[in-house]
Amino acid sequence: MEQKRSSFTGKLGFILAAAGSAVGLGNIWRFPYLAAQYGGGIFLLVYIILAVTFGFTLMMAEIAIGRKTGLSAIGAFKALNKKFAFLGYLAAIVPALILPYYSVIGGWVTKYLVSFTTGQGTNAATDGYFGEFIAEAGEPVIWFLIFIGITALVVLLGVEKGIEKVSKIMMPVLVLLTVFIAVYTLFMPGAIDGLIYYVKPDFSQFSFMTVLAALGQLFYSMSLAMGIMITYGSYMKKDVSIESSVRHIEIFDTGIAFFAGLMIIPAVFAFSGGSEENLTKGPSLMFETLPKVFDSMPAGDIIGAVFFLLVLFAALTSSISLMETVVSIVMDKLKWKRIPACLAVLGFSVALGVVTSLGNGVWSNIRVLGFVFLDFFDFITNSVIMPIVAIITCVLVGFIIKPKAVIEEVEIGGTKFKAKKLFSVMIKYIAPICIFAILVFSVLEALGVLKV
Ligand code: PFF
Repeated sequence: MEQKRSSFTGKLGFILAAAGSAVGLGNIWRFPYLAAQYGGGIFLLVYIILAVTFGFTLMMAEIAIGRKTGLSAIGAFKALNKKFAFLGYLAAIVPALILPYYSVIGGWVTKYLVSFTTGQGTNAATDGYFGEFIAEAGEPVIWFLIFIGITALVVLLGVEKGIEKVSKIMMPVLVLLTVFIAVYTLFMPGAIDGLIYYVKPDFSQFSFMTVLAALGQLFYSMSLAMGIMITYGSYMKKDVSIESSVRHIEIFDTGIAFFAGLMIIPAVFAFSGGSEENLTKGPSLMFETLPKVFDSMPAGDIIGAVFFLLVLFAALTSSISLMETVVSIVMDKLKWKRIPACLAVLGFSVALGVVTSLGNGVWSNIRVLGFVFLDFFDFITNSVIMPIVAIITCVLVGFIIKPKAVIEEVEIGGTKFKAKKLFSVMIKYIAPICIFAILVFSVLEALGVLKV
């Protein structure tokens, strides 16, 4: 492997790189539709509580493990304890399964970018446009291939740095544009009801599914329980504070998700009304709602085009880091060179991605556990494998290497680990027990044994 273990130049470099992986479609596309679906304010509240407790604990542990061992997930777990080597492989399955369907969504974003650029925005705002588009056999597959093709090209040529540089300029613009769109929609009639739904917790809407959905989203959005943060940690210099970096990433990632929700949920109320049917649209929510917002704006086609371009970059930095992770594992473990490893990962992702895309239309009658393919891959990674990886990571840190090992790593160079009490209790007891309970209920629910 080429000199991989170079370090980030400093705290800012680390935060930006980790945030680049964290901020993506998860924040802009996935968070708002889950928040809409699972009760608005109550979902937001549960999410924030989980982020500052579970999210904080796991991210601290993963980054510290990476920095302590100087290795990526597979090697790192093995170095900590031979019996836990399997955990690295389990974690590695996640990005391999996410990449294909992530790229299908990336394809939709690319299609919308082109639609708005070519003045088709009004068309995209009509009811039924999105549903018809994703149900087609050919077109979404082509956009998916374009998106994953760009991702693979960047990984093949090893020019991630270039993309990351561009995205570092684009990311803040995306945040500003999101805030602007959110403020714009809030002035529309009906939007205030959406704002209230989104920020005011309604405890009668609390259900077990709210917690499960929020937990899965937390892992997904913060790139946890899939080995990614371990790898990032392994590049981190010893004099950079892990704790304050984690706090920054958390605030950044959650902040962007929050504004994305603010941009989309009130718009649903303003344009279509806050009926249950409109709020439970799932993956299609962003694609059906935002074109209506742009269509109502002066120069909406241009604003829409800029918006989708920025989202495309956020999605690309994430898909690149997903593919890079899988490719580097194949290179390390099978001792393959970059090009064949990359082509193999591409081939696998294309096969799974095409199946996923067809699952929204011609194959929508084929269900796995009752899910169409896209929802199935989303469910199996976020609601099953990631919680399992998280629980075993907690057991490993809590009882085998002991929280002290992480605390010592965090406190290297005299930085104090402020929340170390919280960390120890969380990683030993609260996190594994709660995640286990959530996992069991979710599987029972998926199997139809339990109705929550
Ligand atoms: N955290 C990303 C998002 O929210 O879109 C998804 C992701 C990207 C996960 C890259 C993992 C990863 F390596």
